[in-house]
Amino acid sequence: MKSLTLNNGNTIPQFGLGTWKSKPGEVKSAVKSALKVGYKHIDCAAIYGNEKEVGEGLTESFAENVVKREDVFITSKLWNNRHYKNDVVPALKQTLQDLQLDYLDLYLIHWPVAFKPEVNFPEDASGLVSLSEVPLLETWYGMEQTVNEGLVKNIGVSNFSIKKIQNIISNGNIKPTMNQVECHPYLQQDKLLTYCQSNDIALTAYSPLGSKDRPDSIKQEDEPILLENEVIKKIAQKYQVTTAQILIQWAIERGTVVIPKSVSTERIKQNFEAQNISLDAEDMEQIKTLNRNYRYVDGSFFALPNSSYTVESIWS
Ligand code: A2P
Repeated sequence: MKSLTLNNGNTIPQFGLGTWKSKPGEVKSAVKSALKVGYKHIDCAAIYGNEKEVGEGLTESFAENVVKREDVFITSKLWNNRHYKNDVVPALKQTLQDLQLDYLDLYLIHWPVAFKPEVNFPEDASGLVSLSEVPLLETWYGMEQTVNEGLVKNIGVSNFSIKKIQNIISNGNIKPTMNQVECHPYLQQDKLLTYCQSNDIALTAYSPLGSKDRPDSIKQEDEPILLENEVIKKIAQKYQVTTAQILIQWAIERGTVVIPKSVSTERIKQNFEAQNISLDAEDMEQIKTLNRNYRYVDGSFFALPNSSYTVESIWS
């Protein structure tokens, strides 16, 4: 499996299992199947509400000698209601307890959006806290503490713009190793990817298959279906593989990390095998033309009326 070297010398496997939207009752077997197939990287988050079950899958896999802890790269993310500096280490400790781990490989600030500590998901502006009240830099100092306490090997951010990363680089003590963002042929993120690569920050592509299993509340009725794109279909036919496999290998060939989610044993295996495909320059050129800067996860659910957040401010 290919890996990338992070700016601190540590490495991350370029391919991993996504667990967003993987339901309790499904995610434990998904994690176990993935590790059996050879996955070496699992992407988690506290807000996915399934870390306890992911933890069971990990613990059983370690006990069954499927893989050793030190050979799996495990990521989790700080939820938006834990942005105050002193809340970061306790939030991480809860995640470690749920995942039954004594360290994480990577911990990310999930969103550049802050909530009140008692609010899990705000219904109106009163549940949000502005970034002038709890600056991202304050949260970052809390993230640094997780490294200094030996609980996390690498820290980074998610859904961050160039400007927001730049602020952390300029004022923080530890440079972020990663920015995890939505990235696929309809949202190629060229500018952000170039910025990250030239600043030695790796980029993880989330929703690489278009996340068609998102809840209806965060779905547009007329959204384009990435897995059914005609250009991707044609390339898939050329190699006798699936469109999902082309999307995964495209992300790897661009030098990003990719974390397709699946809870189906068959698709978990299929996605893993995408790494054996090799796309040529013409394929890459054709896929390049598909960009339309389309976000499936557009952040509008945080841009609540009368709050300090707008869709534009979240992404800028
Ligand atoms: P399932 O979990 O039933 O396999 P994303 O990673 O972009 O969030 O996309 C996840 C969605 O894509 C889920 O609905 C998942 O369903 C589906 N999926 C995962 N792998 C494949 C595949 N190889 N072919 C088709 N759909 C897939």
